[in-house]
Amino acid sequence: MENRAQWGTRAGFILAAVGSAVGLGNIWRFPATAYENGGGAFFIPYLFALLTAGIPLLVLEFTLGHKYRGSAPLSFFRLNKKFEWLGWWAVFVSFVISTYYAVIIAWAMRYSIFSFGQSWGDDTQGFLFGEYLQLSDAPSQLGGIVPGVLIPLILVWAITLGVLFKGVKKGIEVANKIFIPALVVIFLIIVVRALTLPGAVDGLDAFFKPNFDLIMEPSVWVAAYGQIFFSLSIAFAIMITYSSYLPKKSDITNNAFITGFSNSAFELLAGIGVFAALGFMAHQAGTSVQEVVSGGVGLAFVVFPQIINEFPALNGMFGFMFFLCLVLAGLSSLISITETYVAGFQEKFGISRNLSVAIGGGAAAIISILFATKAGLYLLDAADYFINQFGVAFIGLVEVVVIAWVLRKLGAFQGHANAISDIRLGTWWKVCLGVITPIVLGYMMFGLFKKNILKEFDTETGNYENYSDAFILYGGWAVAAFALVFGILLMFKKWHSKTEAEEYKEVG
Ligand code: ALA
Repeated sequence: MENRAQWGTRAGFILAAVGSAVGLGNIWRFPATAYENGGGAFFIPYLFALLTAGIPLLVLEFTLGHKYRGSAPLSFFRLNKKFEWLGWWAVFVSFVISTYYAVIIAWAMRYSIFSFGQSWGDDTQGFLFGEYLQLSDAPSQLGGIVPGVLIPLILVWAITLGVLFKGVKKGIEVANKIFIPALVVIFLIIVVRALTLPGAVDGLDAFFKPNFDLIMEPSVWVAAYGQIFFSLSIAFAIMITYSSYLPKKSDITNNAFITGFSNSAFELLAGIGVFAALGFMAHQAGTSVQEVVSGGVGLAFVVFPQIINEFPALNGMFGFMFFLCLVLAGLSSLISITETYVAGFQEKFGISRNLSVAIGGGAAAIISILFATKAGLYLLDAADYFINQFGVAFIGLVEVVVIAWVLRKLGAFQGHANAISDIRLGTWWKVCLGVITPIVLGYMMFGLFKKNILKEFDTETGNYENYSDAFILYGGWAVAAFALVFGILLMFKKWHSKTEAEEYKEVG
């Protein structure tokens, strides 16, 4: 008897997968990454990464989850006992990501309220780092918890865990059916408004104008792959877990294309909206777009509040809508990130779903308080950099090498996907995963290790963001290594007899 949870409808699964993919990465990461890495010219490495690695890997992860019907560790275990650790590695990377991802959603939640009356004043940068985050002088000075961050953080976890307690169909599927359409409608209103502001065209010009000098830079390709992986939720254990809840007769390949293209369409929309707004801001300030653009945290929480200050009318409402979009996009992704370890622990230890949500989600929520301290932003920045580069991107590489070369399973996976999908996978799929992706990712990872180990950053300490050696060791390397070490350790614990006894027949 199959008593595994299942999605109610195909649309439910697609919305959940798109909900996972569309997240903070699309709204605040993509526009600035594209701009910094060549603007219009960035689309070449971006599309290359999407078509040769992003979508093929998404097909691979959907197939893995669907074929082996388990969380990422269980799916890898069923694929080959020796590779259970690879699933856990991805699960623990997701665990770490969830601890700080929740904090950024909490800021956005607080900022949605600040929007009314523009509480951030004229000095939005001073407000963010000083008054709101109360950022300490150095990463070593934790300096206590910031209540303005802690309170919305509790709310973020309450919503996320509340949805997960309800289960796959009644919780995750229902939440995404509400969050994603709402997100798209509200975001479209913002983009249309931004496009009709004076100066919008200059913003779009800056965004799309290609800088072909940058295209040969390896760092631009690293940025493109990093963006695709993060944005598509690949190598996070997420897509394996979500596809394990698909009914037996489900399309794989078409669903992967729909998810991949929807995510990129939203990303492009975000780029257009953000740059139109930046063009407006430059127009108001009488400067160029180059002067006002900024990445990541700065873009969403420093520059956007400035733009809201300048809005001709309904400032509070547009500010609220923008931060609400971040909250909705963020929550639907956080739910998927957390589901990876909820499912993994549940199967490994044979505990109930509720207990797994309470223990796994509870542990992540408690750890996330670290990022609500006065040194939170430093910790977040280091953890994010290391876990993405040496977690997500590295796992992606190991995943393709193991499946394509060590276990030589691409053919079997192709057969499985083709038997149930509208779109047939051809040789192109095997070439992308077996040849192109390992070569490009391998070259990238080699360069990244070299840069970080030999300290080749253009900073005084030679480290990323000029952080001290000790902070890089404990805040960066140790965090990234934790995921792998814990993953390996869990292999020594046997699967609960309930999970092992569960009837499982390999199909395809
Ligand atoms: N895919 C999610 C994002 O883009 C994690 O934020």
